[in-house]
Amino acid sequence: KATLTYPGGTAEFPILGSSQGASSIDVSTLTRQTGLTALDYGFVNTAATKSDITYIDGDAGILRYRGYPIEQLAKNSSYLEVAWLLIHGELPTADQLGEFDEKIRRHTLLHEDLKHFFSALPHTAHPMAVISSALSALSTYYENAGDPNDPEQVELTTIRLLAKLPVIAGYAHKKALGQAFLYPDNSLSFVDNFLRLNFGNMAEPYEIDPVLSTALEQLLILHADHEQNASTSTVRLVGSTGANLYASVSAGINALSGPLHGGANEAVLEMLGRIRDSGEGVQRFVDRVKNKEDGVKLMGFGHRVYKNYDPRAKIVKESADQVLAQLGISDPLLDLAKELEQIALEDDYFKERRLYPNVDFYTGVIYKAMGFPTRMFTVLFAIGRLPGWIAHWREMNEDPQTKIGRPQQLYMGAAERDLPQ
Ligand code: MLT
Repeated sequence: KATLTYPGGTAEFPILGSSQGASSIDVSTLTRQTGLTALDYGFVNTAATKSDITYIDGDAGILRYRGYPIEQLAKNSSYLEVAWLLIHGELPTADQLGEFDEKIRRHTLLHEDLKHFFSALPHTAHPMAVISSALSALSTYYENAGDPNDPEQVELTTIRLLAKLPVIAGYAHKKALGQAFLYPDNSLSFVDNFLRLNFGNMAEPYEIDPVLSTALEQLLILHADHEQNASTSTVRLVGSTGANLYASVSAGINALSGPLHGGANEAVLEMLGRIRDSGEGVQRFVDRVKNKEDGVKLMGFGHRVYKNYDPRAKIVKESADQVLAQLGISDPLLDLAKELEQIALEDDYFKERRLYPNVDFYTGVIYKAMGFPTRMFTVLFAIGRLPGWIAHWREMNEDPQTKIGRPQQLYMGAAERDLPQ
């Protein structure tokens, strides 16, 4: 720790990186050394959280869940296996996985009264707002769910969340389309059940498409955790007050909805659509980004942690090519995305700033090919991220040293003043 002096006073501050060992430092030195601005310092305090769940090396572009590289998990595991791994710390045995899967299938049904809840919302509602409010409403049905200290209730809530969020998301999608809700079909796998709830109808049996199932399973795994991002730290902060998992995850979904976080996958597709419709060409768009023209932003590029290619983006890019080829679709937006990436990666402006495509850059193209409307993209991110949020909430609650979260504030305002007489 060092003592930080700043215009409003001094503060104890955990010193990172090259400032290690310092005992006193001022804001401008710290800014030079860490690249953080004064306003970041208060946040750094909240973000300094210890965790055993996910490891990221932003310089090398490495991501591991509980020590297992993301590339191996995305290729060889199912979403539920990864969910178990994140939550329990080990890969499940076949029996553990079977039991987990079985329990989740048994809990997919929503209370019938929730249908009134959905009907009360406008059909124009953004599905992220629908799912976060429905999740908050879920806690009203489960009397004991509020006890974070009862391991049985925590386990049951974990199962309920994993079982019910995809159903709620399917309802939100059907609501936006003005179509009838389907009941879950528990003979189907987690991913196929979800796809049917979104794309099935009452009139005919749902035909499973293995290309969609495999691609979606992989995308959910790639999104399953990403250490102390904005939504996960929100879940932890809300959970640190003793709030239950429903309330905490619902808050996380709201944090995820912003275009700088999960909402970026939606924003990328909108950006690609605008480039296509303007007919101005990718190079012109890139120039406008570099000139910082009003409202022109390169979405899906750059990351607070990765100063290298986001390892998830690499997998998603390959998958986008495969999925579109397998589905026999050619999407000019994918070609535009690739052209944009190539131009940006060869441009010194982006090289110097170490701006690479992040996980959101190619995901929208696949979701679109699967048939999801743009507004559902961030909902898919939320379903993917659910095991990570649960794992972090549980890790924090199981740690006897956890205290209620309270970001450190550095007061930068005026010193004491007397009212004019
Ligand atoms: C995520 O997966 O949560 C995003 O990449 C954002 C982040 O990690 O900060």
